[in-house]
Amino acid sequence: MAKKPGAQQIKKEKRDLHIEPAPARMSRRRFLTYLGTGSVALVAGSSGVLAGCGKSEEEGAASERSSKEAAQAPASGEELFFEPIDPTDADELVLPEGFKYDVIRKWGDPVTPDRDYGYNNDFVAYFPIDSLEGGENSEDGLLWVNHEYPIALFVSNYTNPDYDTKKTPEQISKEKASTGGSIFRVKKEGGVWKFAESDEYNRRIDATTPMEVTGPAAGSEEMYMRGKTEVIGTLDNCAGGVTPWNTVLTCEENFQYYYGESSEEVPKGDALAETYRWLDDPAGVQPPEHYGWVVEVDPFDKNSRPRKHTWLGRIRHECVAMRISDSGRIVAYTGHDEEDERIYKFVSTGKYDADNREANTQLFTDGMLYVADFATGRWVALDYENNPLFKDNGFKSQADVLVRTPEAAAIEDPETELPIGTPMDRCEDIEVHPETGQVYCALTNNELHGNFYGQILRITEAGNDPEATEFSYEVFAAGGPQTGFASPDNLAFDQAGNLWVVTDISSDTLNDGIYKTFKNNGAFVMPSRLKGGASGGDVFQFASGPVQSELTGPYFTPDGKTLFLSVQHPGEESEDEENPTSTWPDGDIPRPAVVAITGFA
Ligand code: FEO
Ligand code: CA
Ligand code: CA
Repeated sequence: MAKKPGAQQIKKEKRDLHIEPAPARMSRRRFLTYLGTGSVALVAGSSGVLAGCGKSEEEGAASERSSKEAAQAPASGEELFFEPIDPTDADELVLPEGFKYDVIRKWGDPVTPDRDYGYNNDFVAYFPIDSLEGGENSEDGLLWVNHEYPIALFVSNYTNPDYDTKKTPEQISKEKASTGGSIFRVKKEGGVWKFAESDEYNRRIDATTPMEVTGPAAGSEEMYMRGKTEVIGTLDNCAGGVTPWNTVLTCEENFQYYYGESSEEVPKGDALAETYRWLDDPAGVQPPEHYGWVVEVDPFDKNSRPRKHTWLGRIRHECVAMRISDSGRIVAYTGHDEEDERIYKFVSTGKYDADNREANTQLFTDGMLYVADFATGRWVALDYENNPLFKDNGFKSQADVLVRTPEAAAIEDPETELPIGTPMDRCEDIEVHPETGQVYCALTNNELHGNFYGQILRITEAGNDPEATEFSYEVFAAGGPQTGFASPDNLAFDQAGNLWVVTDISSDTLNDGIYKTFKNNGAFVMPSRLKGGASGGDVFQFASGPVQSELTGPYFTPDGKTLFLSVQHPGEESEDEENPTSTWPDGDIPRPAVVAITGFA
């Protein structure tokens, strides 16, 4: 999540908690103890460790499912494939023995002769170079990397932590170039992953790139109320997804920090207090309604314009995860990362055709957006035409509902007297289990309600049909000392069905108070034998990030032998470039970087 502008000042005033935290579960020690129970237990899955333990009575049904599925689990998922590391506060990307990382690109490296790699890399997607022909080349491909937000100290040398002095147009221009995404070719040669210089696919997209708009808000009064009809740039690109037709969906998260949010005060007045001060350059100010969308980019077509798909709503989009229904429709799940905001799904009208990529690229242009009501287990359509609630509550059109999605989803349901969409604990990433189709949602925390460690929620669609309007759900795993992770953020499944979780404890609370026990943010693995339903099962730490970083965007090559990861905001709390709090990766200033991790069997 982007750090709030001016947060350093807040940190200075933060209370000293004086709390002695509960000790984190020592994953490595427990792993070694577990090994001591013998290989019979490993193979049979009867130790209760990999199969999950400590289940409550309510979890009985899930446990039964778990043991049945565990019995069918592939051999590759039955033994842990690495020796877990302990939590650490080392200023390094720490990996288990036998694994190594190659830095592919870092902040400031060239992507093209005249454009550099952006800042704060996040979501990563790897496209085998032969993927449009159905190939799975795992040593030659295109990498897409999101760039979420600038840290002014390093990007534009704006050094005022209180944000109460003006930025120059030059500083704003540097920050605009630091967000968006990078596309470039990567190859594994001699066991090392390398950036391919001068490749024809290499390009940058940033906050100045012209975009197209699809869906009900395209051309609408609500989108263009400020008179600007050209949509310029994408920003705060957090997580995302890859479509079955090999395009990227990149998500605009905390867009409100750039041009403010729609209100009477924008572009003048109060909004300045919580933005990066891009409004200081009036010539470059854009309407806030143009941001907060999911953007589709074709990495294989350098001349294609990115498209903002308004049917997926305008929220602080963290992510998109997709399924194809039995009828062929695309179902896309997405979450709004803000306290007490919601989880959504889009269902396309058109159907996927594996032989028609051109037609597939139109699937997000027509359909319906639903919000999750966890009180009744229903998906509620944000359908202006067929639900009078929206008109009754002042919405003027479907475009209006989509431009003001959070307000539409918060309308009170007269029957339940609850909002039609349930406020949640900051939904970060969502992933669909590749075998079961269940939907895993990382809810990172919600300080407003005393949830400081977060949890992973699992949604099961009625009849396992992603188009269903009813669902059930359960807490799959809870953060805390008992599992060793806190504030889950990005999720990924590897080829064996293991769930990977990276954490995002805020850099101003890392190694402090109740978070002290977890040390730096890391990457964790929940082995596949937990896939059938165990909750509260064992979680093993695979990686630890440099000081004040979070690890983002885990993504595997098709052969499962390379894991790409972004190391985001190392040294985020630095107040002086001469005395940074992290010096990763080069030993001088900290630089966000995308790495390739190898060593997988
Ligand atoms: Fe950009 Fe919600 O993390
Ligand atoms: Ca995130
Ligand atoms: Ca993910």
